[in-house]
Amino acid sequence: MENTVDRIRLGELMGRELALFEQDHPRSRELFERSKANLLAGVPMPWMTEWAGSFPVFVAEAQGARFTDVDGREYVDLCLGDTGGMTGHSPKESVAAIAEQAAKGITLMLPTEDSIWVGAEMERRFGLPYWQFALTATDANRFTLRLARQISGRPKVLVFSWCYHGSVDESIIVLQDGKPTRRPGNVGPAVDPTETTRVVEFNDLEALERELAYEDVACVLAEPALTNIGIVLPDPGYHDALRELTRRYGTYLVIDETHTICAGPGGATKAWGLEPDFVTIGKPLAAGVPAACYGMSAEVAPRIDAYMQTIPATDVGGVGGTLSGNALSLAAMRATLEHVLTDDAFERMIELGARWTDGVQAAIDAHGLPWTVQRLGCRAEYWFCPEPPRNGGDAAELDDHELAKFTHLYALNRGILLTPFHNMALMSPATTEDDVDAHSRVFDEMAAELVA
Ligand SMILES: Cc1ncc(COP(=O)(O)O)c(C=O)c1O
Repeated sequence: MENTVDRIRLGELMGRELALFEQDHPRSRELFERSKANLLAGVPMPWMTEWAGSFPVFVAEAQGARFTDVDGREYVDLCLGDTGGMTGHSPKESVAAIAEQAAKGITLMLPTEDSIWVGAEMERRFGLPYWQFALTATDANRFTLRLARQISGRPKVLVFSWCYHGSVDESIIVLQDGKPTRRPGNVGPAVDPTETTRVVEFNDLEALERELAYEDVACVLAEPALTNIGIVLPDPGYHDALRELTRRYGTYLVIDETHTICAGPGGATKAWGLEPDFVTIGKPLAAGVPAACYGMSAEVAPRIDAYMQTIPATDVGGVGGTLSGNALSLAAMRATLEHVLTDDAFERMIELGARWTDGVQAAIDAHGLPWTVQRLGCRAEYWFCPEPPRNGGDAAELDDHELAKFTHLYALNRGILLTPFHNMALMSPATTEDDVDAHSRVFDEMAAELVA
């Protein structure tokens, strides 16, 4: 990792920002101290330890692209629950549908008519005709890997180094010095992932072909652009080659659109004309109510159906989930897709993504920092290097935790929330030009202080 800023200056500024954070958030601190009594590490789930301040801010209320914390401070939310809140918080049409459905049955293990509407809408957006529901993108991925292994009769999957697809065992693997190995921090893997998975760098077609040529790979599980190690875009022609190679070696292609839905209403699949065998997606589909789905092509669906008809008990085969496809999730999904994450909304969100990118790049240029910004639709992310990397390995090398923590904390102290694991901003239908410009101003001030 190249050192792009003076570390002594950075340390001084960080000390000042931490003191400011603590001074401004007495009530959050108090709640954090209390939560340590019963919550591991004082938080409801482990990722909440990753925020830039000395403790997480506790939320009082969220609406649209903003939220207020328990100390009465207001924030522009560019994290949006790391995409789970990409709809903006509590959009009124989704809330009305959720309230209405909650009053008339939440979960029954019986279908409701909304499922038919959502299935048809997913076909309109992603082109695949058959759909099933789950509660999280992780589960949608897990179920899809099982199905692909089952109908291909092959044992392995292939993923890209430094990918993220949720807590899917097979995907928590990286290349280190060219060798597959369990990803640092992989918690208690059931089996060594090198036994289940082949792993290559994104944009490396030679390695992809080499690994597929073993003809033991059931499916490639791919984000169409990596979004979980910064935004890494595909080289021109990469997706055509990926599809051609997967077809040539009899491997299914699973496109995980959970984050790349930012590219447009039908994700990168629609925007770039991809032809996956499966699509998986979760997070924002139901405005934050747990909901996910996985779609399959007309070619694979009958093979899955035929197999499912032969098994003695579908409920214990590892695909499904008692609460999957519940009435509440489906009502929320329908309202969200029909009224919130609409084609028109995406147009505005993508324009805001471009505005955010321009604002950050202008500040980088004005202060002569050797940094850059990458964008995919309404998601954008700055890099502490002059050119965005082409693969996950290079992106991981660039990680500058100390600097990222500072830029995030600086923004947080001035009322702007960024995603803790990335230098990322996401636009919602409720985000405004003023919200974007507020970030540009704060980023510019931060850059000026860093180089002073
Ligand atoms: C591309 C992608 N797929 C799947 C997931 C898993 O989502 P969840 O944690 O909601 O299951 C994530 C989470 O960040 C993701 O980024």
